[in-house]
Amino acid sequence: MPVYHPPKIAGSDITPQTVYMNRRTILGAAAGGLAFAAAPSAFAAALSARATDYTVTEKLTTKEDATSYNNFYEFGTSKSDPLQNSEAFKPTPWRVEIGGLVNKPTVIGIDDIMKDFTMEERIYRMRCVEAWSMVIPWIGFPLSALLDRVEPLGSAKYVAFETVVRPEEMPGQRGLFQPLPWPYVDGLRLDEARNPLTILATGLYGETLPNQNGAPLRLVVPWKYGFKGIKSIVKITLTEEEPPCTWNRSAPSEYGFYANVNPAVDHPRWSQATERRIGEAEGLFGGARMNTLPFNGYAEEVAGLYSGMDLSVKF
Ligand code: MTE
Repeated sequence: MPVYHPPKIAGSDITPQTVYMNRRTILGAAAGGLAFAAAPSAFAAALSARATDYTVTEKLTTKEDATSYNNFYEFGTSKSDPLQNSEAFKPTPWRVEIGGLVNKPTVIGIDDIMKDFTMEERIYRMRCVEAWSMVIPWIGFPLSALLDRVEPLGSAKYVAFETVVRPEEMPGQRGLFQPLPWPYVDGLRLDEARNPLTILATGLYGETLPNQNGAPLRLVVPWKYGFKGIKSIVKITLTEEEPPCTWNRSAPSEYGFYANVNPAVDHPRWSQATERRIGEAEGLFGGARMNTLPFNGYAEEVAGLYSGMDLSVKF
């Protein structure tokens, strides 16, 4: 077993305090290039039907930026490591185990998951943000559609996620310095998991998800900070108790279970009021900064999930 060393966090630039993704809605895409190729007209029809509702005016981050500036500690702790060190990682074949408090536990491959989804289910949209942000056209499907298939029991209150452990393919999981305990884990409350904005992504920019972005299956929760977007998922478990989250476990005073984008509450070591948009002209002090919106601009859709909660305590 690898030895666990507490993470050395030098500043916001190396932490998961990133919030990546798209800030305003953009998206809408089919699950994987295959679906794209197989049914272009159905895809286009579904996309245009939804794009009207969700299109955003913000400029997309370039694919080059979105696939070369990543956090994926299994491949190293610097932003350029995932691209450079993930070549040996094999995202196919892939199996995902879905179980816990469900009627129909299952183990399925990505293709099995995909062919279960209608074109409509594969379309999704969203906006996103934070300390740094990107606007990315994701490809995916709602997590809720997958949950429906396993039939959660009434006692299920949370959804736990787990990343693969493959030290032979993931250099960050071997050697003397282990930046995090493995596997990387995270979780959502069941109602958060069922929100239509919560998707499992299989691609971006019309292409299959690259290794450094979490191939072949990763979570995207656009109103939360980027570290909730767990990558290369192999296990999904419905639970009654709040599941552990890697960053909450590693630095509990800095990262909570909920991790909702909240510009009004400072991180212990930096303000969360603004974010740097990757790819925008760099200013004197490290980039063009923009105001961060509560819930990353999705308050209308998700604020109700937290009514009655003190979000400066449940951060
Ligand atoms: N998932 C795993 N398995 N390992 C990680 O280190 N980093 C998280 C999250 N998911 C991480 C992970 C953090 S800190 C961020 S900011 C996002 O992935 C980054 O996703 P991106 O590279 O697609 O922007």
